[in-house]
Amino acid sequence: MQAKQRMLTGITTSGTPHLGNYLGALKPAVAASQQVDTDSFYFLADYHALIKCQDPQTVHRSGREIAAIWLALGLDTDKATFYRQSDIPEIPQLAWFLTCMTAKGMMNRAHAYKASVDENQRQSSVDLDQGISMGLYSYPILMAADILMFNAHQIPVGKDQIQHIEMCRDIAMRFNHTYGEHFVLPEALVDEGDAKVLSGLDGRKMSKSYGNIIPLFAPVDELKKLIFQITTNSLQPGEVKDPDTCTLFEIYSAFASHEETLAIRKAYANGIGWGDMKGQLFEYLNDYLTPARKRYDEIITDPAYIESELQKGAAKARAHSEPFMQRLRSAVGIMSLVGDLGAKQSGAKAKKELTKEEQAKVDAGKAKGIAIAKQRAEQESQQLALEVDDLINTINTSSDPKAAGEEMLAGLRTQIDGAKKKAKKTLQQTLELLEQRLTS
Ligand code: TRP
Repeated sequence: MQAKQRMLTGITTSGTPHLGNYLGALKPAVAASQQVDTDSFYFLADYHALIKCQDPQTVHRSGREIAAIWLALGLDTDKATFYRQSDIPEIPQLAWFLTCMTAKGMMNRAHAYKASVDENQRQSSVDLDQGISMGLYSYPILMAADILMFNAHQIPVGKDQIQHIEMCRDIAMRFNHTYGEHFVLPEALVDEGDAKVLSGLDGRKMSKSYGNIIPLFAPVDELKKLIFQITTNSLQPGEVKDPDTCTLFEIYSAFASHEETLAIRKAYANGIGWGDMKGQLFEYLNDYLTPARKRYDEIITDPAYIESELQKGAAKARAHSEPFMQRLRSAVGIMSLVGDLGAKQSGAKAKKELTKEEQAKVDAGKAKGIAIAKQRAEQESQQLALEVDDLINTINTSSDPKAAGEEMLAGLRTQIDGAKKKAKKTLQQTLELLEQRLTS
């Protein structure tokens, strides 16, 4: 299909991205978007956010933060298509088409849904579906719509999302089989080299749900405080320590170069104290993050700039999603009863490319046309009223107005039967009006 590989990924706007998200998703995505042979589509998954988060302020703030993070990390928005899911109305429209192509049994097997059912089971709930919304249940379908809308080939995701990409392929195949080849079958891109997930403050996987995260752009004081909260063991300074079971070392080595990591490994062998090591980790991370954090702090206070970037992305994304959705609509049999949708659509597209002045002219022309048509209709109805006045006059001045009226109506009806289209319409109107007048 397309010569370039299309890469697409979204981040749900229901929280604050942390160091783990940076290493696992953001950093590689920004790097990939710089490759010449890749077309990247990155978006804020705000419709997805509603599944987990019903606090409007959090959803809104998180969208702004995550957008600012992408921009602060240097995403080139002229090259990549960077947009907000909710600015693309075709995505939920496609989600419905896909819903109708999705086996319910497959959704029963979705991890996120099953985990909630298992939890209900564990708590011996009478209703195993307790607290589970249809949003959670069918969210792999919305995700499939995100992906298929742009016919993306590669989807960089965490391991927990692989199943969703498989479901997406399944749904796409079913659609293609039913309605013809419209969708590319996407593949999950899981970075096997970096498969180890980053640990959080308590040594478990860094995750919002464990409350153990270090936000990517935490202010300096907070960054320091959090690093000093990282769990270590009770070994004293001077005692040999094992770097490979230590969260501090793990985070350090995830950011540092090979040589820097080796030097720290040596320090563990030489019995570096925990306070000392925490100080070093803080210094290292702070130096690493400061330039981007500075940009972030500027961008986050400029929502108009963020919005303009998102609008630019939405326009780029819709240049694809609008015509594609139109094509899918006709594929399933939903289209205008007259004329050809394609023509209508290129008309709509042409409208977009007009300058302001040209658009104003088009609009003025349209308004004039409407005014003329209205005037003509008015004239016609006045004309008709006059003609009917005449008929009534004839009827009223006859010797038997009732009979004359009936005769007139009957005459009109026969004329209508024999008349051609346009004349028929006028006669019909005359008849109706006369009937009205005679009975009122
Ligand atoms: N569900 C993904 C997550 O929670 C986010 C997401 C939504 C996504 N739509 C997507 C990722 C499409 C990749 C492609 O991480």
